[in-house]
Amino acid sequence: MRITVIGTGYLGAVHAAGMAQFGHDVLGVDVDVQKIDRLAQGHAPFYEPGFPELLRENIDAGRLKFSTSLKEAAEFGDVHFICVGTPQRPGSTAADMKYVDAVIEGMAPHMHRPCLIVGKSTVPVGTAARLATMVAELAPADSRVDLAWNPEFLREGFAVNDTLHPDRLVVGVASAHSDAVLREVYATILSDGTPYISTDVATAELVKVSANAFLATKISFINAISEVCEAVGADIMPLAAALGHDARIGSRFLSPGVGFGGGCLPKDIRAFLARAEELGIEEALTFLKNIDTINVNRRRSAVDLAKVMLGGSLQDKRIAVLGAAFKPNSDDIRDSPALSVANALQSQGAHVRVHDPEAIENARAAHPALNYTTEVQKAFEGAELAIHLTEWQEYKLLDPVHLSTLVSAPRILDARNTLDIDHWRSAGWTVRAMGRPAR
Ligand code: UDX
Repeated sequence: MRITVIGTGYLGAVHAAGMAQFGHDVLGVDVDVQKIDRLAQGHAPFYEPGFPELLRENIDAGRLKFSTSLKEAAEFGDVHFICVGTPQRPGSTAADMKYVDAVIEGMAPHMHRPCLIVGKSTVPVGTAARLATMVAELAPADSRVDLAWNPEFLREGFAVNDTLHPDRLVVGVASAHSDAVLREVYATILSDGTPYISTDVATAELVKVSANAFLATKISFINAISEVCEAVGADIMPLAAALGHDARIGSRFLSPGVGFGGGCLPKDIRAFLARAEELGIEEALTFLKNIDTINVNRRRSAVDLAKVMLGGSLQDKRIAVLGAAFKPNSDDIRDSPALSVANALQSQGAHVRVHDPEAIENARAAHPALNYTTEVQKAFEGAELAIHLTEWQEYKLLDPVHLSTLVSAPRILDARNTLDIDHWRSAGWTVRAMGRPAR
């Protein structure tokens, strides 16, 4: 099939390469000329394990091309996937739909052949219905354009695997024809026996925001219990392990720490609540406000604990910040808890040096006032405290004995609860961890 993917960010670029891997002819489109140039030359514009290989393989096979022209996309594709961002609207908690709307405005007038537009971006429920009206107004009178919604659940860091082997496919369609087209698009995945849920468009839109709201709730739940542990000197780690053994609860997304960040969970729960307010049903989702508050408070708690460890003041204290990305195996720094904590420490007078294996370039561009290093040892040199904020594998492998010779005081705060704290303690470090008692 001839497929276009509009928007080549973390989601769209991997989706485009994945579609090509399934044997389709794919055109990836973006307004960012530099990004399209890089992709066309086979260079990934972001860090995502396995993506450079997938990109290169499909470009070399002649199945994957790139363009900046929506007109070319409209003329090329049988199926058009919309993968542009829906960030938080400035000065509001609602989603900003300007990029999605711009795709429809730019493409619809050129749609002279029958085609299916498939939204993948996370949107407020009701968006597909609104876009269908826009398409009907803007597309040429003789065209036959259908619209469907097919939410994407991929996790950054595992995007290639999640695209090629998703745990489920959800499609929201208005006709049997659209359903048949999507079954053909995903024939390879369906032949693996992957669950396929075909429903109406509003339900499909809601599946995505509900999934992210649930995941955010699970994380904030364990972080709220973590706060209770801190108040009474209990230990969140064995508590979380004990909860996780209950098959009804499960242990995944129950890792306590500094909370969730990234380009999805934080803004998606806010947009979901904003949409509920528009619909006059905000009471049903008011709990999401608490989920957000618990999450943001974890960042403040990490700063407060750092201050306690440094004797009550951050002024002129040298602090090694381990991590800038919102999670490991990604260079994405959108709403990163690590950078939010680093900025708060600096604003209270500390001298921070931030290390990250992949995200320094993005972090420096967004937060130029912070100090950075690409060598983890350099972050530790002379530090009076280290804070572990993004759980890269590299940090688990650090040698606390050697590092204790570099710092000016061996203190570490594990804000992600993934370091072997007994190992650090036995190497002479004072260790504190979120939700765990001091020793
Ligand atoms: C998320 C959803 O998982 C995915 O299905 C959706 O398509 C997009 O949003 P992603 O943003 O890649 O994916 O990150 P995810 O792995 O969900 O992690 C989100 C945040 O939660 C990270 O900051 C992570 O560190 C944090 N987290 C995750 C926790 O603090 N504790 C956990 O137990 C799990």
